[in-house]
Amino acid sequence: MAGCILKKDLGVQIEMMTRSLIVVALAGFAALSGCSNSGSRGAANNGEKLFVSLQCASCHGDKGQGGSAPALVGSSGPVSSPDAMAAAMWSHATKMWQAVDAAKIPRPQIAPEQAADLYAYLSGGSGGKDPVGTATSGQQVFEAKLCASCHDQASDASAPNLAAKAGQFSAFSMVSALWQHGSGMLARMVSQNKEWQVLSAQEMADVLAYLNTKK
Ligand code: HEC
Ligand code: HEC
Repeated sequence: MAGCILKKDLGVQIEMMTRSLIVVALAGFAALSGCSNSGSRGAANNGEKLFVSLQCASCHGDKGQGGSAPALVGSSGPVSSPDAMAAAMWSHATKMWQAVDAAKIPRPQIAPEQAADLYAYLSGGSGGKDPVGTATSGQQVFEAKLCASCHDQASDASAPNLAAKAGQFSAFSMVSALWQHGSGMLARMVSQNKEWQVLSAQEMADVLAYLNTKK
């Protein structure tokens, strides 16, 4: 979807164009790039395939309705918004991995776009709004949930300084980071006698606002 023009980028372009040109330009871009409801919002049909191929379905039910693991679908549940999904996955990660390891299922790597696709599928395309996050609250959460104790320590060379990725964090990048770096993070927590932390959707929104402006 590299050719897709996202709404955010369009906002900037719109300011630079005259109104009459916009309509023509938008229609042209949409036709050329072949974008439907995908790009940053995710594609539900890809998500449906991923849900099976990554074996989520084997525990959460073939439609996410629940099985040996909790139901994921439903507007008030863990997929009520992207931040809610990211927060739910972070919060339940350690128990989920125990189940995944016990079932001898390889832990998948999930790219941010794939996380978006899974979200589009599980939310049925009717995802709700994320809570509004603020950077000041996010900094407090980042400290209270021990993130800062590893990520802001110059001495702790193997916990990356997240400021390097400011501006790139999203609910979907957090899902991806969880699956990609979570076991390394968990091992570090265990060795430092720290407990895995639980985050609410609001706290996830705040942390994202903080990380995206972190210097
Ligand atoms: C081997 C079984 C298993 C597999 C495979 C699995 N999960 Fe889970 N998942 C669980 C269990 C068990 C929990 C609940 C953990 C707990 O009680 O804290 C969970 C929790 C969750 C939650 C939080 C649910 C809530 O109520 O807040 C989400 C979201 C989730 N999983 C998504 C996924 C996705 C997406 C995949 C595929 C990439 C996946 N899971 C693969 C077992 C699994
Ligand atoms: C005990 C130390 C420790 C704690 C606590 C910790 N992390 Fe990490 N974190 C790490 C380490 C180590 C890695 C790299 C792991 C790897 O790549 O295997 C990492 C990786 C990450 C990444 C991926 C970075 C990248 O380059 O993509 C993100 C995002 C992240 N952590 C966010 C958080 C957040 C948010 C919290 C708090 C809720 C947190 N971490 C708490 C040690 C920690």
